[in-house]
Amino acid sequence: MQKKLNKIAKDTNSFLKKFINSQKKSNLIIPMKYGLFSGGKKIRSKILIDVGSLFKINYKSLIIIGAAIECIHAYSLIHDDLPCMDNDKIRRGKPSTHIKFGESTAVLAGNSLLTMAFEILSYSKLNLNKDIKNNLINKISHCSGHLGIAGGQYLDLDYENKKVSKKKIIEMEIKKTGKLFSFCCVAPLIIMKKNKKDIKIFENIGAEIGLLFQVADDLIDYRGNSLIVGKKTGKDKKKGKATLISLLGYKNTIKYAQSLILQINKKLKKYGSKSKNLSETLNYILNRNK
Ligand code: IPE
Ligand code: IPE
Ligand code: MG
Ligand code: MG
Ligand code: MG
Repeated sequence: MQKKLNKIAKDTNSFLKKFINSQKKSNLIIPMKYGLFSGGKKIRSKILIDVGSLFKINYKSLIIIGAAIECIHAYSLIHDDLPCMDNDKIRRGKPSTHIKFGESTAVLAGNSLLTMAFEILSYSKLNLNKDIKNNLINKISHCSGHLGIAGGQYLDLDYENKKVSKKKIIEMEIKKTGKLFSFCCVAPLIIMKKNKKDIKIFENIGAEIGLLFQVADDLIDYRGNSLIVGKKTGKDKKKGKATLISLLGYKNTIKYAQSLILQINKKLKKYGSKSKNLSETLNYILNRNK
């Protein structure tokens, strides 16, 4: 699994470096690269490639689409660490972007990474027809805005130090993290021009995978070693974050995550052995230590 992730990371970073280096220079390039290339598991690209393999989508196209997803992910982390949000000084074992470059630069580098995702998806060298590119951009925008990452981040902050129901916590985690995973799962179906019903199925699978990913992140925050994790741990409790752990306790949250894996695998059953890679990734998501 780690080998596969390393290969995806290498291919994604090499595309992104070429893409950025082909543009004119600006003062924001260094902080943008810092947020993009300072590590990161590339798990979202892995999910995209796993689902892509169910539909035999060309690897090179998937790497380019994954690069756009990683830009949005990197932007969301730069902003997530800002003092007005989680106020975290360490990310991927290094000073957060705003610590290294200052707050205003971090905000602008984040904004530029978000819009770079759209540049990448409309890139002439991405070998897909314009309708498909348009549909991909439409979907990723939807997943990133007020009904996705941004809306979820709003709720995450709004729920601090409040008693929040399980349903609302899940809804918040699906928005802030799940929606981008939904895009990863749906992009291959958009490319294959699948019908609305199939798209909905994979949107839901993606939301569940993203929820699993966020629950695992919350578990790592609870029990993890910050030197291994590369970010401070124990911070959710300190900030009074509404998580399933705060509501149900650590053990019940693990049980919940395990039941999510079963639920997702059940939906993948009809793809037979082709879905093996995806199932493997699900286990990695829950059992990882960083
Ligand atoms: C961390 O995401 C933020 C969450 C959405 C939980 P990742 O754990 O994927 O971050 P990197 O890219 O690997 O550092
Ligand atoms: C971040 O969730 C979710 C995003 C969309 C960025 P967290 O705030 O739990 O992520 P970490 O723990 O700081 O990486
Ligand atoms: Mg946060
Ligand atoms: Mg955070
Ligand atoms: Mg976290």
